[in-house]
Amino acid sequence: MPTPHNNAKKGDIAKTVLMPGDPLRAKFIAETYLENPVCYNEVRGMLGFTGTYKGVPVSVQGSGMGMPSMGIYSHELYSEYDVENIIRIGTAGSIADNINLREVIIAVSASTNSNYAAQYRLPGTYAPTASWKLIAAAVKAAEDKGCIYHAGNILSSDTFYDDANSLAEWNKMGVLAIEMESAALYMNAARAGKNALCILTVSDCPLKGLSTTAEERQTSFRDMMEIALEAAVSI
Ligand code: HPA
Repeated sequence: MPTPHNNAKKGDIAKTVLMPGDPLRAKFIAETYLENPVCYNEVRGMLGFTGTYKGVPVSVQGSGMGMPSMGIYSHELYSEYDVENIIRIGTAGSIADNINLREVIIAVSASTNSNYAAQYRLPGTYAPTASWKLIAAAVKAAEDKGCIYHAGNILSSDTFYDDANSLAEWNKMGVLAIEMESAALYMNAARAGKNALCILTVSDCPLKGLSTTAEERQTSFRDMMEIALEAAVSI
């Protein structure tokens, strides 16, 4: 059944979906890596495609920016389209001192300043966590590729332009990097009894005032995309 945000019919979407924030990046991945990609959604320009990678069905769809947008699309994929695994691929700003531009981060857990968990009415603080089988598959793919990766806790923030300038506080807690979607994805996966992981490329180092050029982003993003695709077909 199509939803208000997704035209796809049941069966159009594979069990495993890669989700970049940018729908045009979804198109790039589909056209570059998938065999026989078919576009299943154009509502709000949030493009989604299904094809095969090494013979295994894989979909790739934009999530949009921020936890409300990721919250909507991932919820519908899990609950309306029987999706089992979502692997977010995106960019992050480094927070930890030892993380450099273009390196890959495998987000084992996602701390957050968002109120997303309030909807579950839990009598404590929830720890949004990735699924072990996806973490293990991504770590293996990153090691097989020989690329530099870090696995650990990230921060999913509600703000890109943050008046409080709080990154130094998260740095003290060993948080690796900042992005804006994973905590909602991990909570939706947990609530639905499904699997999720986020793999990131460091596009900027806000505490050091560094950022990548567009050309550098192209190459390093390819590492992340290939890690996600290899993980997707190995689970
Ligand atoms: N903040 C939030 N999200 C991001 C950043 C950042 O500095 N860089 C890439 N995604």
